[in-house]
Amino acid sequence: MRLRHVLSTKQFLDIPVLNHIFNLAADMEQMDWQGNLPQSCRGKILAAVFYEPSTRTRFSFETAMLKLGGNVITTESAGHFSSATKGETLGDTIQIMGGYADIIVLRHPMKDASKAAAESSLVPLINAGDGNGEHPTQALLDMFTIRKELGRLDNISVALVGDLLYGRTVHSLVHLLAVFPGVKIYLVSPKQLSLPEEFLSHLREKHVHFEELSELNPVLDKVDVLYVTRVQKERFATLEEYDAVKDSYVIDKAVLSRLSADAIIMHPLPRVNEISPEVDADERAAYFRQAKNGLYIRMALLHMIAVSHDELREV
Ligand code: NCD
Repeated sequence: MRLRHVLSTKQFLDIPVLNHIFNLAADMEQMDWQGNLPQSCRGKILAAVFYEPSTRTRFSFETAMLKLGGNVITTESAGHFSSATKGETLGDTIQIMGGYADIIVLRHPMKDASKAAAESSLVPLINAGDGNGEHPTQALLDMFTIRKELGRLDNISVALVGDLLYGRTVHSLVHLLAVFPGVKIYLVSPKQLSLPEEFLSHLREKHVHFEELSELNPVLDKVDVLYVTRVQKERFATLEEYDAVKDSYVIDKAVLSRLSADAIIMHPLPRVNEISPEVDADERAAYFRQAKNGLYIRMALLHMIAVSHDELREV
């Protein structure tokens, strides 16, 4: 399977394609353990261009590239440390970076920034989060995690909890959940933070069973996956609006006692108050394992892009 840009999970609405990516990620994990990873990125350079903060996404992409034999050039706070401060457009910056690097990973505060940037890009470009738009590689690692933890992706019940309005990981994830048969989605959020209409209509089109609610309690004994998100403070117009909803749901021991015994708790991280540290020791807390899985999904994607790129050059 050839892969160039990774911009939205809408590119991957196909079970065989998703299974191919997840199987490759599982192979990467295995080969990493055995110390025999393919060096498919040897001689290639990845540019990590981040205009917003990141811990997991940037470091796991960089680690993945290095482990596959490639090299990395990187800037965090690109808004301050690149020519953006001098007024350079994103399109110009991306065009220039494509002259230095073989793959660009971009995080930007504006929705659809990566789609626009890809149009100026001479090389494959990966969306590492575009404002309140999407975060496709996170959603792929989320699905990979569910498959690993539950052993299946069909016939699962998932509660998406918290900031469904601005949370880009959820936006990318609903597309992928909708691909699998028998999936039930509970959308749990304060009214002001409910999932935007474009994603609801996607679920309706795909005939996915979903329910919107503002209470967490009714779903706790029904779900296989409790996917908790941070209220996205940086997207609110005023602090008052953020304060009104910031601690709407807190997963603590009391919540745990009502959650099914074989359910898992996920979170893209970083967490603020949504999951109390007392939950971490519970076997159902999957969020640190989830973060580790990001490394293998990103290895799989970089490997696929690198191999496709070589094939394209040969043609
Ligand atoms: C998420 C993001 O940046 O959208 N973080 C991540 O990449 N794991 C979630 C968040 O910031 O809340």
